[in-house]
Amino acid sequence: MLRHKDLLGLKDCTAEEIYEILDNAAQMKKLLNSDCKSSDMLRGKALVTLFYENSTRTRSSFELAAKYLGASEVNISVATSSVQKGETLIDTGETLDAMNVDFVVIRHPMAGAPKLLAEHVRASVLNGGDGMHEHPTQALLDMMTIREAFGKIEGLKIAILGDIKHSRVAMSNLFGLTKLGAKVSMFAPKTMIPRAIEKLGAHIAASREEALEGADAVMGLRIQLERQNGGLFPSLSEYAKYYGVNDGVLKYAKSNAIVLHPGPVNRGVELSPQVIDGERSLILEQVKNGVAVRMALLKLLNEYREAHV
Ligand code: CP
Repeated sequence: MLRHKDLLGLKDCTAEEIYEILDNAAQMKKLLNSDCKSSDMLRGKALVTLFYENSTRTRSSFELAAKYLGASEVNISVATSSVQKGETLIDTGETLDAMNVDFVVIRHPMAGAPKLLAEHVRASVLNGGDGMHEHPTQALLDMMTIREAFGKIEGLKIAILGDIKHSRVAMSNLFGLTKLGAKVSMFAPKTMIPRAIEKLGAHIAASREEALEGADAVMGLRIQLERQNGGLFPSLSEYAKYYGVNDGVLKYAKSNAIVLHPGPVNRGVELSPQVIDGERSLILEQVKNGVAVRMALLKLLNEYREAHV
């Protein structure tokens, strides 16, 4: 059983909890792949998605996960909600709590917003991405995809390339993968590597080739084009040439290496189109696993709630 009512990040999860989530997600994938994606496991429960930033994958997969397990789900469109009238996050949360909501999935530009919300509501809060802090469900689906490909995570080398400094995906993967015994090698322009990340267990490679050498999985991260004016790298074409992953540099990884990307992807920037659409790419399998992981989390948090809340 999970130890908390909320899922705020993988920094606070044990390896046992992560394996429990991954094991349950594997079971949920069977339901997801069946002709009838329907269960009444969460009948009578309610989930709200509260996204202060855009999303395609995270929001829709949480909504589908809730539906497939028989829960009711509602999306609050922040752009048309009372947030626009100045309502605070805590007031919004307490309003949802008053409606007896069981789960709130929040994405927010401010690191720590899910924790703040969790401290003020009875509902279980799931972090759908907070600032540059964590995106735990993304890392869980990444780990599920790696585990499916290799049958294990311990002892594997995972290369992560891209805008590590601004990436909550990189942070959650670093916490989760190292807890499960993987080696994480990172490479990016120096302007995109956060200070002291090595203290968290990452190896910062001196070159793209070193990062990929012998890697079992290669993960590209989105280059945040909205930060392009900040002078983090000279141009997109130079980024693609010197820091991107293409078939040429992929040769340094193991011959059976897989390619991952959390999406949305900038085609031809962090990954070449040939790599995105190539036979090693599991990007769309990641999306499917995202639904299974979120189904598993709703089931496990519901079990926690039945025992403790
Ligand atoms: N990977 C991810 O978080 O995608 P969305 O922004 O589409 O949710």
